[in-house]
Amino acid sequence: MISPRNDRALHEELQRVTELVAQRDDANAVPTPAGEFLHALVLAGGFRRVLELGTGLGYSGLWIGAALRQTGGALVTIDANAEKSAAAAAAFHRAGLSSVISPMVGRIAATLETLGGQFDFVFIDADKQPVLDYWRLLRPRLADRATVVTDNVKTHPQELAAFLEYVRSLADFHSAPLDIGNGMELTVRLPGSARG
Ligand SMILES: C[S@@+](CC[C@H](N)C(=O)[O-])C[C@H]1O[C@@H](n2cnc3c(N)ncnc32)[C@H](O)[C@@H]1O
Repeated sequence: MISPRNDRALHEELQRVTELVAQRDDANAVPTPAGEFLHALVLAGGFRRVLELGTGLGYSGLWIGAALRQTGGALVTIDANAEKSAAAAAAFHRAGLSSVISPMVGRIAATLETLGGQFDFVFIDADKQPVLDYWRLLRPRLADRATVVTDNVKTHPQELAAFLEYVRSLADFHSAPLDIGNGMELTVRLPGSARG
């Protein structure tokens, strides 16, 4: 197995995407510590069925995908912006992650309806106001012990307030904020609580 520290293609691509994001006003990416965290979390959890809401230019997808190469899993990542999704797909290809990551172009709610199966890890990093709606769509699709990371808890507290209050009130999940990157909510489905 290639450690991300020794994976030259991955690091060249992470660097390339970082520079691209910095050049554009219309693109964002998680900071490097958040990417490292997502990578480590996927490895630690041994996650295999992973979903990302908000591909952007592929920075977080590169970190998650590199971990999934080691767990034997796969990532579906959704973005409504076809140009960004194509740029991300090219980055995934150059990093040798095409067989691990499937970028999908479309609005999140509509695209989720086309996806079957359950997920054991979800990273939410798209538009902030509808996150509670996304959560309600995702909840029946979360496997036992599923883990959801929601970005921007520190940078978008008002937009995420209703979601955070709701998710922290659920008896079958544990949810807490982490001071990593832009602030990330870590939400874990308690063992034995999945309904199907
Ligand atoms: C912050 S960027 C994602 C950054 C990426 N996760 C990373 O760290 O590299 C948010 C992305 O969500 C996409 N997006 C926002 N609202 C969306 C929606 N309703 N459906 C699909 N994509 C959406 C935007 O096009 C944008 O590329």
